[in-house]
Amino acid sequence: MVSKQQDCYILAVETSCDETSAAVIRNGTEVLSNLIASQIETHRAFGGVVPEVASRKHVESITRMLEEAVQESGIAMEDLSAIAVTEGPGLVGALLVGVMAAKSLAFALDKPLIGVHHIAGHIYANRLVEEILYPSMALVVSGGHTELVLMERAGSFKLLGRTRDDAVGEAYDKVARALGFPYPGGPYVDKLAGEATEVVELPRAWLEPDSYDFSLSGLKSAVLNAVNQHRMRGEEGFEPAIARGFQESVIEVLVEKAIRAVRATDSRQLLLCGGVAANQGLRAALTQRCEREGIALLIPPLKYCTDNAAMIGAAAYLKWCNSEFSSLEIKGEPSFSLEAWSVQS
Ligand code: KG4
Ligand code: ZN
Repeated sequence: MVSKQQDCYILAVETSCDETSAAVIRNGTEVLSNLIASQIETHRAFGGVVPEVASRKHVESITRMLEEAVQESGIAMEDLSAIAVTEGPGLVGALLVGVMAAKSLAFALDKPLIGVHHIAGHIYANRLVEEILYPSMALVVSGGHTELVLMERAGSFKLLGRTRDDAVGEAYDKVARALGFPYPGGPYVDKLAGEATEVVELPRAWLEPDSYDFSLSGLKSAVLNAVNQHRMRGEEGFEPAIARGFQESVIEVLVEKAIRAVRATDSRQLLLCGGVAANQGLRAALTQRCEREGIALLIPPLKYCTDNAAMIGAAAYLKWCNSEFSSLEIKGEPSFSLEAWSVQS
């Protein structure tokens, strides 16, 4: 095994949903390679991710992705320090492809294996660009997750709030579908909202006054009702105003709760992460509000916001530093606890 005085090279694998990705990361921060094979074109025809199709696509490309990621990094297989893989949460069949590949490689090369929590990966995507100062607050917004996570120290995760129904990205995709856009529709709704000159006012789900939880299903239903009413009246051109109303409602609640969480925990930074961190409206609103409040805001570049293996390598490094390795018995864990994945103190 490579001694910890030397550089650490982690080969990371991500197959939790519809991207097959492999990356090599030096010392948890430096991306030597990060290859991503997206399956979006395949799933688009079905209007969403089809689990069986996702697994099959991962099987088709995983070996080539691993080989190319190592080759592009310039690091020899035997010089790798560890093999990391997304263990969960995600689609069980999809996770299993990455986990089996990583386990086989770890066994064949006699290297430690590190199973990684997907959300820890999204959060530590920020570490690929900036130093993280603790305590730190993360606002995780993706296709499957909407969470506020407190990190009191490196690799410790405390869930402050989460969605009680739909995830933000999921709501964006459903609203996009109602407005006639293909999957994944988040970016279309974002663009349309930015172009709108009018707004349809929609409700905000604040929940209990002190709650950090979110709820998006009521808002989604309100959007669907508004769309139906306009259609029934035979109106046209209402889509931008609805997209704007939906986006404003989502953003106002996310920003307000995130800022309140930062204040309540004396967090030194707010980290935005997950696929919806690509949303221009959310980025602009958070940037403006954090500037006004004097809060340091970190947002990873777009390429590290959506699913990728580099972020998995960044999170795996936390475990590597603590010599916390996984057994070769691990399987994909569709509902994996982030708090339980915390690095031991
Ligand atoms: O993190 P991610 O790549 O996958 C999951 O782990 O879920 O997030 C994908 C989600 C999709 O729902 C997609 O519509 C949404 O992120 N998304 C956006 C934008 N770009 C991607 N949602 C709103 N605005 C965007 N610009
Ligand atoms: Zn993700």
